Amino acid sequence: MFPENRPRRTRRTENLRNLVSETSILREKLIMPVFVDENIKEPKEIQSMPGIFSYPLSELDSYARHLKNIGIRNVLLFGIPESKDGEGSQAYDENGIVQKAIPYFRKNDLLVITDLCMCEYTDHGHCGIVVNGDVDNDATISYYGKIAVSQASAGADMIAPSGMMDGQVAEIRRSLDQAGFNHIPVMAYSAKYASSLYGPFRDAAQSTPSFGNRKTYQMDPANVREAMREIEEDILEGADLIMVKPALFYLDVVREARQRFDLPLVSYGVSGEYSLIMNGIRQKLIAESAIDEYLTSIFRAGADMVITYFAQYLCERTQDGKNNPE
Ligand code: PBG
Ligand code: ZN
Repeated sequence: MFPENRPRRTRRTENLRNLVSETSILREKLIMPVFVDENIKEPKEIQSMPGIFSYPLSELDSYARHLKNIGIRNVLLFGIPESKDGEGSQAYDENGIVQKAIPYFRKNDLLVITDLCMCEYTDHGHCGIVVNGDVDNDATISYYGKIAVSQASAGADMIAPSGMMDGQVAEIRRSLDQAGFNHIPVMAYSAKYASSLYGPFRDAAQSTPSFGNRKTYQMDPANVREAMREIEEDILEGADLIMVKPALFYLDVVREARQRFDLPLVSYGVSGEYSLIMNGIRQKLIAESAIDEYLTSIFRAGADMVITYFAQYLCERTQDGKNNPE
């Protein structure tokens, strides 16, 4: 107790503060989401996400090289196809946009994770096959199996199903194994909430549902015990990594998952989180160090890795000689 104890002693110099720091942001723990759009000819900035662009295939060679050069290690790919239909058939076409994009990143030694969902590919914008006005679970997961095999065949290193269908992990695991991909891990979007923070993403991916919403499949923000059941179920079905999404409004869920489960834990800092913080910085409402504080909070809550649109920005900043991520 004071005056023997003086917590300020270990805050006296920067080196000392770094030495006693409990949490760090490491670049190998960051995953950069990338939008590849079949409908554009030039990189196109996403209006609500300053600094984040969609890329045409023709720009991927130089973009992937840039990411590698600044030290990005991992990407999460999203595709926006030229044509959409009721079955989201471009999602499992061997000449689909994501399938064609994968090799550019692989060539540059980036780990390629593919988001597996149908909402960017269906004409109605829902995450699966619609029957009588709602997404039919069991019809949808057999499509997910096909998409997984198609992405793995195109060279994906890891498959990340985000549709929140029951049994999706088991179905994808089975399909991958049958097709000779038993070495490809599944990163399960286990506890994905029906959040207001996906708005900017849906603008970028043109995936806003044309009717209804996603509340019959994504989780109710009020529930944390249910999140634990979702995660437990995904582990039983064979998930290799588990996820809580979004991050910022759900740090209690991240913490709870960390305490309960031993699998690698991912948290996804979604588009709305990026938009709020980046626009806040640009408008000088908050300091730029908000980015570090934000990511630190997610790691401190217990995430092993973070999917974040800030990954590229942070790595570029490091190049300029400023610190973090290491
Ligand atoms: C597709 C998907 C979404 C996100 C990741 N995968 C959108 C949604 O569920 O509407 C959101 C990512 C973000 O907001 O950054 N199911
Ligand atoms: Zn979806």
